[in-house]
Amino acid sequence: MKTAEIVTSVAALRAHVSDWRRSGARVGLVPTMGALHAGHLSLVETIRSRAGKAIVSIFVNPAQFAPHEDFDRYPRTLETDTAKLGDAADLIFAPSVKEMYPVGFATRIEVGGPSQGLETDFRPHFFSGVATIVSKLLIAAMPDVAIFGEKDYQQLLVIRRLVSDLALPIEIVGAPIVREPDGLAMSSRNAYLGERERAIAGKMNAILRNATSEAQARQALLEAGFDSVDYVAIRDAATLGPAGDGPKRILAAAKIGGTRLIDNMEIQQ
Ligand code: PAF
Repeated sequence: MKTAEIVTSVAALRAHVSDWRRSGARVGLVPTMGALHAGHLSLVETIRSRAGKAIVSIFVNPAQFAPHEDFDRYPRTLETDTAKLGDAADLIFAPSVKEMYPVGFATRIEVGGPSQGLETDFRPHFFSGVATIVSKLLIAAMPDVAIFGEKDYQQLLVIRRLVSDLALPIEIVGAPIVREPDGLAMSSRNAYLGERERAIAGKMNAILRNATSEAQARQALLEAGFDSVDYVAIRDAATLGPAGDGPKRILAAAKIGGTRLIDNMEIQQ
């Protein structure tokens, strides 16, 4: 089966993009950390419907992990990822840590607004790590369009804020969550779950769907077998500020064994 070419340097990525631009192609980017699953493949499919050329970046970004988190054990599966993508991507950008953060690198991008609270209360380093790498990826590839999954809903809003504040001429598309048959949001970290943990994890989505209040959903997650709940929050869907009359979203993060899972969904009014 035909697979995409893999480049590891920003210079090689830019050379491909400028060739495509000369031929008038629209360029799309799907930023990932690899360990690709059906959720990622659906992002690639959507980008293909919006751009003639699709780049998938695969980079486990150290800047978004705290020292005690799973950076070292995060799955790195470039060969299988390349096979899974087949010819759905035109180019894979798989840089080394040194390529993205060369010796002496000293810049961090901080986004306010939607990055406040929720994930930041538990992972204070996370959004500046994401904003820094996403800025670097967008500036390196300069795509017309880039896509991010709604599973990381707060991340999506942070990236929209970043792109708008920096006036980057890039359309940001948010893609619906792809779920397992029992409702578990697809995530590369689901691979960490043992059999018992996986069964409990599968209950999270139904609990959020049937939540009558934040407190009730938190209690239901604990009763379902989650070890701890970082947050359950019902927020304004556009800003993640306090919920008002407009569209609302319920968001949650909970831990089971050593694995932290997040999920969110629109609240039907
Ligand atoms: O959502 C992810 O996989 C990562 O946070 C991203 C956007 C690829 C940045 O490393």
